[in-house]
Amino acid sequence: MEIKQDGKESSLILTKQGAEARVFESKFVGRRSIVKERFSKKYRHPSLDSKLTLKRLNAEARCMTKARRIGVYTPVLYAVDPVLNTLTFEYVEGSSIKDIFLDFGLHGVIEERMHDIATQIGDAIGKLHDGGLIHGDLTTSNMLVRGGTNQLVLIDFGLSFTSTLPEDKAVDLYVLERALLSMHSSCGNVMEQILAAYRKSSKQWSATLNKLAQGATLTSYIFVIVLSFLCCPFLIV
Ligand SMILES: Nc1ncnc2c1ncn2[C@@H]1O[C@H](COP(=O)(O)OP(=O)(O)OP(=O)(O)O)[C@@H](O)[C@H]1O
Ligand SMILES: [Mg+2]
Repeated sequence: MEIKQDGKESSLILTKQGAEARVFESKFVGRRSIVKERFSKKYRHPSLDSKLTLKRLNAEARCMTKARRIGVYTPVLYAVDPVLNTLTFEYVEGSSIKDIFLDFGLHGVIEERMHDIATQIGDAIGKLHDGGLIHGDLTTSNMLVRGGTNQLVLIDFGLSFTSTLPEDKAVDLYVLERALLSMHSSCGNVMEQILAAYRKSSKQWSATLNKLAQGATLTSYIFVIVLSFLCCPFLIV
């Protein structure tokens, strides 16, 4: 794909180069849009590589569309190009939750706004999970808030899949919990507020949160064992 990065005459402006995909800002029929291009991996066999790339492209488009059907806000999908391996979707004007939370960390949390955001996050994940969809990459960079309406929009369904297993749903929540702890620890216990909204939104919340709690217990056991082994190996008999 031809890439231009030089401002005014550019049809595509590179905004993010990831390990699996490049993200460009562009125009689609006069509308501000995002073009996400999955590129090939040189270490993979070419025919396997093109099959995998196409499979992931289609999976991302399908999951994003399914999320919208379930009632979760996602950008409008404008086009899928299986030759260039691109998805084109609506550009969401606003900020990422990551930037909003980093700002809360620096300047103090606005409790009312935090509550609104956490409620929308918990509600959206509950809807996804009851609809049998696992996001797979619930980080604060993959959540946007539309300017003006403050509506939460989920993006980046590149690792999404369908499942009704409580284990898969718990892992989805666990990824988010880790992301919040590592990036936004100064924002207080956002996860508690998210889970409160999740309980209201998901009919199957109990099985999922049980698995999440079991996972947390298992993680703390492993942590204690590893820590004791590192600090005082002679205590382990
Ligand atoms: N529809 C959109 N509107 C506005 N900004 C977007 C939109 N989609 C993506 N972005 C911006 O581009 C960034 C990267 O997009 P995305 O998360 O889809 O790609 P990625 O993380 O590189 O993907 P992957 O994890 O599949 O490799 C986002 O964090 C966000 O800042
Ligand atoms: Mg992303």
